Amino acid sequence: MKLQIPVDTAGGRYPVAIGPGLLSDPASWQGLLPGRQVLVVSDDTVIDLYGERLNQVLATLPGADDRQLGRLVLPAGEASKSLASCADIFQALAALGARRDALIIALGGGVVGDLAGFAAACWMRGIAFVQVPTTLLAMVDSSVGGKTGINLAQGKNLVGAFHQPAAVIADTDTLASLPERELRAGLAEVVKYAAIADADFFAWMEAHAPALLARDPAALAQAIATSVRHKAAIVARDEREAGERALLNFGHTFGHAIETATGYGRYLHGEAVAIGMLQAARLSQKLALAPAEDGRRLERLLASLGLPTRAEPVLAPETILQHMRLDKKATAAGLRLVLWRGIGQALVSQAADDADLRAVLAG
Ligand code: NAD
Ligand code: GLY
Repeated sequence: MKLQIPVDTAGGRYPVAIGPGLLSDPASWQGLLPGRQVLVVSDDTVIDLYGERLNQVLATLPGADDRQLGRLVLPAGEASKSLASCADIFQALAALGARRDALIIALGGGVVGDLAGFAAACWMRGIAFVQVPTTLLAMVDSSVGGKTGINLAQGKNLVGAFHQPAAVIADTDTLASLPERELRAGLAEVVKYAAIADADFFAWMEAHAPALLARDPAALAQAIATSVRHKAAIVARDEREAGERALLNFGHTFGHAIETATGYGRYLHGEAVAIGMLQAARLSQKLALAPAEDGRRLERLLASLGLPTRAEPVLAPETILQHMRLDKKATAAGLRLVLWRGIGQALVSQAADDADLRAVLAG
């Protein structure tokens, strides 16, 4: 079954389509190819799996004979979310003669989506792009909401722009080929929505963890749709992260620091976020904000989804603290963290001091 969830932004409304077979369905693409140049950006794993399906559907769309189609394929992995890859996209656009009405199609996970979206934001000060997320993480989070960017050696996502896609086409059939570990990492972001905003959804996740891990199509579709609805609602209220949108970073300040401290190699983003959410929960418990039982439920749920609950071996608290201070939410006044009131409620706070943080990080 196909679902369509609208995302309302200052620049207008765009659809997030969720369902099986959408990538190859010409109806998904109707009205999305305004000009003659189209650049497909993907990685070398995803292009082999789904590049041909995309080519075939593009060939059936009106204007196919006149269309100039380019393709830029990057090595799979976080290292491709770089300034160098962005320059490669600009060169590919220049080679195509891409004008203001050109389109970029981001076919892949969050790495491809963030990078291609950033290039789209920059080319001629902004051209359209379509997100075709192929990981669970990208379907539930990164493809929706317009955060685009690249990493520097000094930290993740330090260079970026808000640039909303023209549409998101989430073909749930593509999840069949996703490695088990990537599926679990995506489920961490689904747990995030339940933890910060939706106690009923949290209970649903507890009951459906086995079905989600078994890739039951109905369970996955429900998890994706519920997540996207939460994200769309928050983005509609706070597109530029003046306030509420920061709650979507629950566990991320800890998680990004873990990823950076371990050189992006040991943990997937979602795994680091799982550990980070538990650190945020433990800190919230220490500050008497969240009940201990809710922290135990969060830990049990993440463990039941096969996610790590602690960094092993424990990382040096001082190193993690240093990386946390580079977080985009940090200000001259100190670290602003997303803390927890328990299942379904989060808040942004500066209440924690370094001693509290060191105690949690050492734990
Ligand atoms: P990813 O893009 O690196 O994809 C993970 C791996 O799965 C890659 O090796 C890829 O080749 C492979 N893959 C993708 N789809 C596949 C499929 N259907 N079948 C088989 N293999 C497949 O990682 P990700 O987890 O999708 O995204 C992580 C990135 O997203 C990080 O850079 C993170 O910072 C970013 N992110 C951005 C936002 C945002 O709001 N923009 C939100 C969350 C995360
Ligand atoms: N992934 C966090 C956000 O989109 O705001």
